[in-house]
Amino acid sequence: MAKATIQFPRGFLWGNATAAHQVEGNNTNNNWHEWEEAGHTEHKSGLACDWWGGRWKEDFDRAAETGQNAHRLSVEWSRIQPEKDRWDEGALDRYREMLRGLKERNMTAMVTLHHFTDPIWFMELGGWESDEAPQLFADFVHKTVSALKEYANLWVTVNEPNVYAYSGYAAGVFPPGKKDLNIAFKVMVNLVRGHALAYKAIHEVQHEARVGMAHQYRSIYPKNPRSPLDRWVAKTQSAIFNDLFPKALTDGKMKFLWQRVNVPEAAGTQDFMGMNYYTRDYVSFDLRMAGELFGARSYAENADLSETDFIANEPEGFFEGMRWAQRFGKDIIITENGVEDSRDEMRRRYLAQHIEQLWRGVNFGWRIKGYFHWSLVDNFEWERGWTQRFGLWELDVESQKRRKRKSADLYEEICKTNSLSSEMVVKYCPEVSEKLFPD
Ligand code: FCB
Repeated sequence: MAKATIQFPRGFLWGNATAAHQVEGNNTNNNWHEWEEAGHTEHKSGLACDWWGGRWKEDFDRAAETGQNAHRLSVEWSRIQPEKDRWDEGALDRYREMLRGLKERNMTAMVTLHHFTDPIWFMELGGWESDEAPQLFADFVHKTVSALKEYANLWVTVNEPNVYAYSGYAAGVFPPGKKDLNIAFKVMVNLVRGHALAYKAIHEVQHEARVGMAHQYRSIYPKNPRSPLDRWVAKTQSAIFNDLFPKALTDGKMKFLWQRVNVPEAAGTQDFMGMNYYTRDYVSFDLRMAGELFGARSYAENADLSETDFIANEPEGFFEGMRWAQRFGKDIIITENGVEDSRDEMRRRYLAQHIEQLWRGVNFGWRIKGYFHWSLVDNFEWERGWTQRFGLWELDVESQKRRKRKSADLYEEICKTNSLSSEMVVKYCPEVSEKLFPD
């Protein structure tokens, strides 16, 4: 193995990403609470990481003390606007306090305005299926950004609109549990309209704002590259899952199977590309999978799989994602990347291997400005409940005790030195040292 250190540019943002419903606890006024109560999830979110009870302070301390200079969090719409005609100033104060907490720790804040959850009143009006949705969202964004602008200028309008539409309206595993591709497309169009109005609203209240989405990129390959049907599925799925949203924010055009919709107001509404990357899929044509555009998903043979087979460790897919992202000509921020691993056996190598790809991207001259690891402390993983542990810190949900994992030590060294060295790799994940630092 070669002895070397790969160095990141000065000012690079290093942080963790979190989302309100997954960490706050006691979020009872949104559609996910109802979904959990109706028994659609493995567990209930309950107290989550008890951030609403004040434990964000100790967790921000953990992040700051371990060298992180940024944090991505989300605000909960249903707290800020509990009813259509009511704002909760107390909730906004609480978020102001949290953001001040980041500032006091010298951490840059990135704020997500929509991360999967919707207020109950909003869903009763039809949620994102309704043509009223974009304006309702923009009103909420206007109010929230006006209240928080003193502490943040990096805004993510919508987290993973592709996953939101797919999981809630095609796969049916997120609320409202529908399986209808036409409705899914309607939701996508309204999310793009909502983003466009929000982009405008944010820039109206804050000139220096930088606004983007956090888009999930999946690397999608045909299982059998010689099969034209497998290739067709991979191409179609990738065009819809990966390209549709960022393209809409570039040229205002949306194409979904046989449908075409123009959303001219969305053209040019992205100041940076936020990219979430987790894994690579192999797809094969399967007539039984109509709802998935005839694609059956699997991972590579002999893939390095996470604990519940949710993620395959495919760092080259991350590089491919960055290459794809830079084509849109904007700054790139990695808004999420990480792996579920309660025993912390795979995470260290997953982290090191992905950081190495990140560095390759930076060295290709791509405008990559920061990296947010998912996540700080184990948190509530949606329909999968507490079965998946993504934290650098382990959480005992009952006692709320946190325990630092070895991966947090590795990330600490990366953040504090703004680099990854062969020594770190030998210390934390020697199994990939030859791969990362070959002789
Ligand atoms: C992403 C979500 C995030 C978290 C990770 C594991 O799709 O944005 O909330 O659940 O997956």
